[in-house]
Amino acid sequence: MARKPIAVKKLTPMLAKMELERLALNIAKHNKAYHAEDAPIISDAAYDALIKRNADIEAAFPELKQVNSPSDLVGFKPLDKFDKITHSIPMLSLGNAFNKQDVIDFYDRIDRFLGLNGKEIKLTAEPKIDGLSASLRYEKGVLVSGATRGDGQIGEDVTLNFKTISEIPHKLLGDNIPDIVEVRGEVYMSHAEFKALNERQLAADAKIFANPRNAAAGSIRQLDSRITASRNLHFFAYAQGEVSTKSTQGDFEFESQMGMIEQFKQWGFAVNPLMQMFDNAEQLVAHYTKIEELRPTLGYDIDGVVYKVNALDLQTRLGFVSRAPRWAIAHKFPAEKARTIINDIEIQVGRTGALTPVARLEPVSVGGVVVSNATLHNEDEIARKDVRIGDTVIIQRAGDVIPQIVEVVLDKRKADSVAFEFPRFCPECGSKADREINPKTGKEDAIRRCEGGLICKAQVVERLRHFVSRNAYDFDGLGAKQVEQFYNWGIIKNAADIFDIEAGDGDKWDTIRKREGWGDQSVDKLFKAINDRRKIGLDRFIFGLGIRHIGETTARMLARSYENIETFLPAMKAAAIPIGTDGSLINEAYADLVNLDGVGDVVALSLVQFFAEENNVNFIDKLLDAVTTIPLEKADDSSPVAGKVMVFTGSLEIMTRNEAKAKAESLGAKVTGSVSKKTDILVAGPGAGSKLKKAESLGIQVLTEEEWI
Ligand code: IVH
Repeated sequence: MARKPIAVKKLTPMLAKMELERLALNIAKHNKAYHAEDAPIISDAAYDALIKRNADIEAAFPELKQVNSPSDLVGFKPLDKFDKITHSIPMLSLGNAFNKQDVIDFYDRIDRFLGLNGKEIKLTAEPKIDGLSASLRYEKGVLVSGATRGDGQIGEDVTLNFKTISEIPHKLLGDNIPDIVEVRGEVYMSHAEFKALNERQLAADAKIFANPRNAAAGSIRQLDSRITASRNLHFFAYAQGEVSTKSTQGDFEFESQMGMIEQFKQWGFAVNPLMQMFDNAEQLVAHYTKIEELRPTLGYDIDGVVYKVNALDLQTRLGFVSRAPRWAIAHKFPAEKARTIINDIEIQVGRTGALTPVARLEPVSVGGVVVSNATLHNEDEIARKDVRIGDTVIIQRAGDVIPQIVEVVLDKRKADSVAFEFPRFCPECGSKADREINPKTGKEDAIRRCEGGLICKAQVVERLRHFVSRNAYDFDGLGAKQVEQFYNWGIIKNAADIFDIEAGDGDKWDTIRKREGWGDQSVDKLFKAINDRRKIGLDRFIFGLGIRHIGETTARMLARSYENIETFLPAMKAAAIPIGTDGSLINEAYADLVNLDGVGDVVALSLVQFFAEENNVNFIDKLLDAVTTIPLEKADDSSPVAGKVMVFTGSLEIMTRNEAKAKAESLGAKVTGSVSKKTDILVAGPGAGSKLKKAESLGIQVLTEEEWI
């Protein structure tokens, strides 16, 4: 006969504490049995009774509530979807080093940037955890939200799921707690948990995960936190996001990487025990070798070692290039290799018409991931390695990089094998595919391009896929697959048509509604997702056009420089008109464009070619009927150089030239390479020559380095 539990009123604090601990374990076990194994051990009613008992005890003894109390997970409905969270400080990625020389170069770059002339600089080294990054925001010491990295700017709100991880405190321990602090780190799954999970999945006929990282990511993206809880994820804290300067104790500031990690530990986070501090590249690489040796014994996946400048004031001075800090780098472990057979070589046609060969492989496991494709880059590469269909090859895979073919095993080549012949015509539309001659070098381009343009279905579809991609329009629920379907069903012909889907006469909706996987509800969601993007950042707008050589960084730079669509478009159209009797492209708008920092001939010509084509201009006009562009936020318009066009010349003595340039940009200035009427300020150090003369003749403000600082 079941014993009746002691009435909550009669529990002593000690008994209550013991029972709460037991209940937490018990409920976790049942969650796992129910959600992960699909094999509940007790009835729903008995389960509910456990939950109620837990809640009653917590209500009577609130101070005893466990950090990972099951009551935080129950009584809640699984979410419909995750909300988005905009990171107050973007989450960046890291540059890579692959060998000792890369590490030495990294060290030297830092030295040069800071102008240290070989003075000692301390760096930390720690394992690079192969998981997914998380940003945890604490206000007054309480965890208020947790987000995934997402695209680095906007992530998903997975707070409830992060709360199921025992190494993530719900409340920071100890004192010295800033008003706001964002703790960043890596969520990962241990080898043991990964193995156990896949065994359970196999038994339940459910999805098998390729590696612990995918399993961790899949576990975090569960709408039902109880499933996440059953996966026993882990967390290492390793970086800061937003941190306020006030704390419970007065002023607050982290001073060093090491100090920050020590503080994380005191607040209750797990930190990696292999992190250490060193003085030079030699020592860093020695620690790398040591970690590489320990790798098989760690019990979790790592894919390299991260080096970081220890002093945070130096980190601030070093700043960022594009999306990676100058003060840190990931030294990656060598790629893993395997042997397999090439079943076929297919030619893919990209957004800009590039023909890219892809090797279809006999599937093989490389470092725990099943690989069935490898890139062959271009036709020269195929010729150089003499790669043929039917060959046995060695392939390698490093991190997220597409697997590559390292070499052909010639002993295994069949007698009747023939060299691969690269097609001279587009396999998708039959148009001619040529290799352009580079006007500068006179050499043939490595890439063969389909000249079909918009008559080539492959190019049109790739443009569409680009348009909906994460760094462009990023429609919720309208990804590469859906947009390709819409094209195939005849609902859209180009990206601007996406915005017409809703406005259509209803035929289009019916076409979609009737297809498998689409119902009334998903069509409604689709309309909303599309309408949500009728306002779009100018940078995303430019990137979304899919112009060759215009990646995210260049798009953002253009958006910043031209400020709004009303200046950008006319400027591009004007730059695209060839003037001068010799037909040269030199006109003022073009000169302004090439003069922007980060734009060279290649980027400028690509823009000009795009805007010279009527189809493209019509496309933009149509798109602008449907969307409004939003200018980028000003970097910092409180600074006296915000919005100013600046040039640096001569030798600088206090800051290096690069540092000065980076600083000016972070203060909202535009830095260009040469002096023109548009220049507002010239900073001239000793040895300044023609630029200084020109500035003086144009009456431009000239500052010394000290005045600038
Ligand atoms: S530091 C500003 N430290 O690597 C850079 N990242 O490739 C902050 N990662 O997105 C990151 N272990 O998810 C840092 N010990 C470590 C890391 C680490 C893994 C991941 C992180 C980041 C990616 C960059």
